[in-house]
Formats: sequence, structure tokens, C-alpha cells
Amino acid sequence: MKKLIVLGVLCLAMTACTKKGGQESGVIKIGAAGQLTGPEAVFGSDMLNGVKLAVEEWNAKGGVLGKKIELIPGDDQAEPRQAVSVANKFTAEGVVGVVGHFNSSCSIPASEVYHKAGIPQISHASTNPKLTDQGFDNVFRVCGRDDQQGKAAGDFAVQKLKVKKVAIIHDKSTYGQGFAEEFKKNLGTGVEVVAFEGITKGEKDYSPVVTKIKSANPDLIFFGGIYTEGGLLVKQYKAMGGTAPFIGGDGIMSEEMLKIGGPATEGTYATFGPDTKEVASAKGFNENYRKKFGEPGVYSVYAYDAANILLQAIQKAGSTDGKKMVAAIKAIDYNGALGHIQFDAKGDVKESPYVVWKVESGKFKQVK
Ligand code: ALA
Repeated sequence: MKKLIVLGVLCLAMTACTKKGGQESGVIKIGAAGQLTGPEAVFGSDMLNGVKLAVEEWNAKGGVLGKKIELIPGDDQAEPRQAVSVANKFTAEGVVGVVGHFNSSCSIPASEVYHKAGIPQISHASTNPKLTDQGFDNVFRVCGRDDQQGKAAGDFAVQKLKVKKVAIIHDKSTYGQGFAEEFKKNLGTGVEVVAFEGITKGEKDYSPVVTKIKSANPDLIFFGGIYTEGGLLVKQYKAMGGTAPFIGGDGIMSEEMLKIGGPATEGTYATFGPDTKEVASAKGFNENYRKKFGEPGVYSVYAYDAANILLQAIQKAGSTDGKKMVAAIKAIDYNGALGHIQFDAKGDVKESPYVVWKVESGKFKQVK
């Protein structure tokens, strides 16, 4: 009996050790969270592959602090509740830092869990201002913010396209609606907003809203949301004979947008960061990624840099202690595939330029 108790205590202690920081088990665990299944899964695998590449490169050089890195994927299915459960699972498993989530509607509720657990979270794609405006010192992002992205889209509409009448559609998500409001704010008084409509994600037939928009006769249609709905809206609007171009943001910047929307997407605009296929700093990343996974998605490189920052922070801190890692991330002066990255006091990147892209001959191309 005594032996059994001793054995039991020993097992418990070992489990606790394995979980605690993942360190004592000989590995360091980092989480990669996003929509790995469901209608937006392409964005999820773009992220996961970017993180995988970073982890494989570190492990090939011996890992970090002499330990191998174990990547733990977490599938939030682009659902806020699922994101919280992924965050809880990560912290219970002893994950020491997280890349993700993708959707702001997932990153923001999950950030509360990471904040309580005191582990760093670096989102590669969540652009809603609230993520870093909440004041959580452990939360960072390597992408820009929708107050910047909304301004870039608004300025382009007014100054370059010289629009007079704009229709706005959003998917009622934290990201989609927030981005739509930021865009609207930047249109100024010379532009009439002829419609501001929320759609329900996941539907297949958007003809009621498309009919309404078309009859309002806008020069430009803004969409705040993801390619899944974006592609359908463009296709259904053009099928009705609509001719105004669409403009969206990072959420539609995927090959999937072009597949779902087909030829109707020709001439569609989107705001995003500058082309990373052209920058020298991302050359190695692009080559290595292509060898393993094929063409990177636009956010793959952001996930890759986020993972590298997390791992470099462990190395610099000499520890997987959350507080020490957070301090190391705050102080980081990182030269990655995206270029030079430093964080401001809120956890946003100091520089996050937005440019405009346009679908030409069936491809998104940066507007020069
Ligand atoms: N930028 C998008 C979001 O924040 C993907 O949800």
C-alpha cells in the first residue's frame, strides 16, 4: 500500500513537471492557434506551416536552451468559444508561448486566458485595435491594426478612386465590423455612404443584400470580412449586372477569394502589407517554405516571424518563464523575413505600412 502511494505521488509529481513549462520533460512547447478546419482553414494552414518551418529550423540547430521545441497546434475553427478552449488546453499542457490566433474575434477572448496564465501571445493576423488596446502586457502582434488599415482603404477610395458614393458591407465580426467603421470614418464629408449592411457569416445566398446595394448605385463597395463571404458577395453582385469594384482588406487576401469569386473578382482591391515575395529579407523564407509546403499564403511569413520572435525571446531570456519572455519580447530588436521588427509599449509593431492590392489577370498584385 505504502509503495502504491509513493508511486502515485511520484506519478503526480512527474505529470506536474511535464506540464510545468514543458521544460522538465526535455522539450519546450509552443502553441500555434488558428482555424485549422472549417471554411477558413486555408488561413489556418498558412499559419501552421509558417510556424512549423520556424520550429524545424530551430530544432535543426539544436532547439533552444538545449531543448527541442515541440509545436502544439490548436484548432479554434474561427469560433471565439473554441478559441478560449484552445487557450485553456494550451495552458494546461504547459505551452510557454503562443502564435495566433488569426481572427480578432478569437484572439481577443483567448488573450484573457493567456494573460491570466502569464504567457506571451503573438498574433500574426489579428488587426482589431482592441487586442493590444486592452492593456495586457503579454499580448503582441506582428501585423498592423484596423485603424491603420481602415485609413489606408479610406484614403485610397477618396484620393485615388475619387469615389462619391460608397456602400459598406461587413460580416458583423469584431474584425469585419470594426474595419468597416474605421473605413467609414476616413471617407470624409465629400463621400456619401449609401448603405451600411451586416451579413451573417456562413450563408450561401447573399442576394437580398446584393440587390439592395446594387439599387443604391455606389461607385465602390467596401467589404469587411473574410474571403469565404467576400468571394460570394462579389460573384453574386456581378451576376446581377453590378459593375462597381469591391475593396476589402487582409481577410480577403487569399487565393481562395479568387477561387470562390471566380472571374468576378477581377478589379477587386484589398489593403495589406507590402509584397513579401519581393523583399530581400523574405527570400530565404519563401524558398524554404515553397520546398516544404508550396506557395505561402500572405500571412505565412507573419506566422513564421512571430514564432521566431517567441523562440528568440526564450533564448534571450535564458528561460521559459512568462515574465522573462515578455520582457525579452518587449526589448526585441528583430530582423526577420518581414524586415525589422520592434514593438511599442502596447505590443504593436512600430512600423506596419499598408498598401493597396488589386486583382489583375486572376492574381492579387500590389498597386504601384
Ligand atoms: N485581420 C483579421 C482579423 O483580425 C484576420 O480578424
